[in-house]
Amino acid sequence: MSEAVYPVPAHIAASATITAEKAAVMRAAVQQDPDAFWRQEARRLDWITPFTRVNDSNFNEADFAISWFSDGQLNVSANCLDRHLETRGDQAAIIWEGDNPAESRVITYRQLHEEVCRFANVLKDQGVRRGDRVTIYLPMIPEAAFAMLACTRIGAIHSIVFGGFSPDSLASRIRDCDSRLVITADEGLRGGKSVPLKANVDAALDHCASVEKVIVVQRTGGAVKMVEGRDLFYAPLRDAASVDCPYEAMGAEDPLFILYTSGSTGTPKGVLHTTGGYLLWASLTHDYVFDYKPGEVYWCTADIGWVTGHSYVVYGPLANGATTLMFEGVPNYPDHSRFWQVCDKWNVAIFYTAPTALRALMREGDDYVKSSSRKSLRILGSVGEPINPEAWEWYHRVVGEDRCPIVDTWWQTETGGILIAPLPGATALKPGSATQPLFGVEPVLVDAEGKVLEGATDGNLCIAQSWPGQMRTVYNDHDRFFQTYFSTYPGYYFTGDGCRRDADGYYWITGRVDDVINVSGHRMGTAEVESALVAHAKVAEAAVVGMPHAIKGQGIYAYVTLNAGEEGDNALRKELVAWVRREIGPIATPDVIQFAPGLPKTRSGKIMRRILRKIAEGDVSSLGDTSTLADPSVVDHLIADSRLVN
Ligand code: PRX
Repeated sequence: MSEAVYPVPAHIAASATITAEKAAVMRAAVQQDPDAFWRQEARRLDWITPFTRVNDSNFNEADFAISWFSDGQLNVSANCLDRHLETRGDQAAIIWEGDNPAESRVITYRQLHEEVCRFANVLKDQGVRRGDRVTIYLPMIPEAAFAMLACTRIGAIHSIVFGGFSPDSLASRIRDCDSRLVITADEGLRGGKSVPLKANVDAALDHCASVEKVIVVQRTGGAVKMVEGRDLFYAPLRDAASVDCPYEAMGAEDPLFILYTSGSTGTPKGVLHTTGGYLLWASLTHDYVFDYKPGEVYWCTADIGWVTGHSYVVYGPLANGATTLMFEGVPNYPDHSRFWQVCDKWNVAIFYTAPTALRALMREGDDYVKSSSRKSLRILGSVGEPINPEAWEWYHRVVGEDRCPIVDTWWQTETGGILIAPLPGATALKPGSATQPLFGVEPVLVDAEGKVLEGATDGNLCIAQSWPGQMRTVYNDHDRFFQTYFSTYPGYYFTGDGCRRDADGYYWITGRVDDVINVSGHRMGTAEVESALVAHAKVAEAAVVGMPHAIKGQGIYAYVTLNAGEEGDNALRKELVAWVRREIGPIATPDVIQFAPGLPKTRSGKIMRRILRKIAEGDVSSLGDTSTLADPSVVDHLIADSRLVN
């Protein structure tokens, strides 16, 4: 790990909202009287009914609860739109940059308000009511933000499914939350290629009884099949809809959205976030961590299908009256300078992306970066996976020309927003470290037995106290929520991450300690890939582990045992890769498939994944004790064969 330390640059400290002095005062305040601190911070939102209760959370099983501001009422779209109209109605709310560099749109707060009201009225006309679930399967087009905010305006709960997921994945997410309505587009457009979104919805709906209506936004104008009585094009509905739509008064603890994410076992969980605490957290962290200044153009490159797109493309920036850039395309189209061209085109001040994109661009050489000016850039951000110091240094030196602090932000779908990150005006940086917890966040490192570890140490990362943005439940499965996050280390929220704390109290996330892998910053459960593989007629058994990957951070390594009589050859490898892509989506593409006549199992039949991980890493010198295996010779075969596939 890098030992370099980058102090806060003087020009950043001079104008920062949170200076080192202010941060110290705030840390002391939240420690001394947390409720008073949060009562004060919550004033950044507009409340319809002020809350009197603050934090009623408890992580212990006997009186388990997570609840913030529970008797307050507010509306998310009113906070993101209505309250800005007077002061910044004509300011750009969303700058949309198309996949094709010749296409863009600038949408002011006034226009956004109008579009959201129209969309909300369309939803109401189609029978959507407060508390109903709406599935959004859209590309990165402004209508995605309109649709999200429209749901919040009328109290409907949105569930966004990333456009890269397959019809099967979409169907299971629609079924799990019983959506009545799906919003999609004819096609998406990424890197000049179209993505058949509506056709995927059609295939998914063969297996979903709950869906009554499908609204189709026409993005490309490509031909789609429209089912009579079910499918409706958006444009005519929008044109006919009123621009007037009063917002609903929602309880702070009313559900805001569901977002499915992978866990170490079973099917993806519907992470549920609620209204007040989530919006406060998204707004506060966007303001403090990015040191956002009014008028600046802020760009988070995430897709709205992921939590980063929810909190840091839409809700955080819009709650703060910021100008948020929404990008439809990919970093390497038309060429590898696209990110930096877009920064120059729109004078982007704050740029937030994932290490996987940086590593891919770094490999293409500095000229693509240097062909742009980037003089508008002030703050750089990183999210989704550990950033290796080499990529960090490149980001800092080449992209930011040594003048832009990098905020490495650690958080999760479950946390709603950033929990550990530097404050650019207050925190010295160490490449590869997410540095220190935000106000009120109490990280704890524990050993395998749950013993709390002090000082400089390695351990499993837990959080000791609730924070407003915390998820409230797994949709329809509160027991699974408790079991997954609060039963491993009683009294603590367990993140699933391993972490090191250094002598300065800086946190270094080392990666997942469970069976979740992080591929290009996207979460994938090994169990999901395994069940896709065993659904193939020729596969008897499969075990999937993560492997180091130079660009993606982690790749997917699958050990596959075939049914008797089947031949494992390259043709079948290709077939299985295509199969998994079709079952789950391209993000689950296995990087390596190793046919394995046997898997290392204990005598009780449990697969020893530790051994499989080591072989996938190519680190066979330290396999540990293999004597408890039912058949230790399996390991030698696996090692010999792994040399053939790698
Ligand atoms: O392992 C951590 C990693 O991503 C996981 C959360 O994934 P997801 O819920 O998809 O949310 C991604 C966007 C917040 C974490 O458990 N992770 C996220 N950010 C970082 C990170 N690992 C290291 N450093 C980070 N900055």
